[in-house]
Amino acid sequence: MHLRPYRNQDADAIAAIKARCDLVDPLALFYRRSSTNPDPDPQQKGDEKRWRTHVKSTRRSLCLEILMPGTVCWVLVLDDEDVEAENNRQNQKHGSSATTNNNETVVGFTIWSRHGSSDMARRWQGHGEKLTTRVKAFVSHLNLSIRYPFDSSIDRHRMAQFVNRLKSGPCPEPSEKERWELEAMYIHPLYQRRGFGGRALQWGVERALQERVRIWVWSTDAGKPLYLKNGFDEVGKVDFGDIIHHSEAVTVSVMVWGM
Ligand SMILES: CC(C)(COP(=O)(O)OP(=O)(O)OC[C@H]1O[C@@H](n2cnc3c(N)ncnc32)[C@H](O)[C@@H]1OP(=O)(O)O)[C@@H](O)C(=O)NCCC(=O)NCCS
Repeated sequence: MHLRPYRNQDADAIAAIKARCDLVDPLALFYRRSSTNPDPDPQQKGDEKRWRTHVKSTRRSLCLEILMPGTVCWVLVLDDEDVEAENNRQNQKHGSSATTNNNETVVGFTIWSRHGSSDMARRWQGHGEKLTTRVKAFVSHLNLSIRYPFDSSIDRHRMAQFVNRLKSGPCPEPSEKERWELEAMYIHPLYQRRGFGGRALQWGVERALQERVRIWVWSTDAGKPLYLKNGFDEVGKVDFGDIIHHSEAVTVSVMVWGM
């Protein structure tokens, strides 16, 4: 597996991966209208259409998020030897695999954002392309502040509940301006627990080391073991148990690397 920078033609692949992961994420299930079936029965045209609409909505949100200056998206692509091993595995397994585009199999992605005003931060934020940078920032910011107007899979009332709880939770805010934030990390469910997430995380850890800054991430319960294993500390936690009626505790943990 290797990482390469995101290209526009990866949008469908990364949206499909996120949509699949969201199906088992209690928080995403709370604020998304996602009673969809990722492996639709070809006889049930309605299912297939609903799933496609859901992935398209997710794609719109992701594409707008990536526009924000200082945002870097990496995709994880299988190498030839991984594909061979995977083909053998798939012969024995059910479920659709990750998306193949241009003969590449994209199995995950990460979205990072560089905050700050140092020369290094401005380099990541596209210093020098002022007009396009501002337009992109405006569009991306609008999307966030109006809470994803182009994403029909979002339940806006529940999203507002989620965001308000995050904001009012007893969590520390980043005190340092110069930092990396990990905005998203998704590995296709069929490819999890093979070390891909850890390797994707490594890019940010190396950057943070070189730039002598910390990394902040607001982690799902599913992500937390990976961050703990990779040297992050938990500095706060928001509980969603009372608004999400789920059988297990649901939290978002604020994790920081470089404390
Ligand atoms: C969280 C996620 C990115 C982890 O990716 P991954 O490729 O499965 O992670 P790795 O295989 O690199 O895991 C490295 C280590 O992290 C820990 N870890 C990862 N997932 C774990 C899990 N579900 N339970 C316990 N430990 C886990 C383990 O120590 C693991 O090492 P091991 O497999 O040798 O025990 C992936 O499960 C995912 O995409 N989940 C859905 C989306 C999500 O919640 N993303 C996090 C957003 S903050």
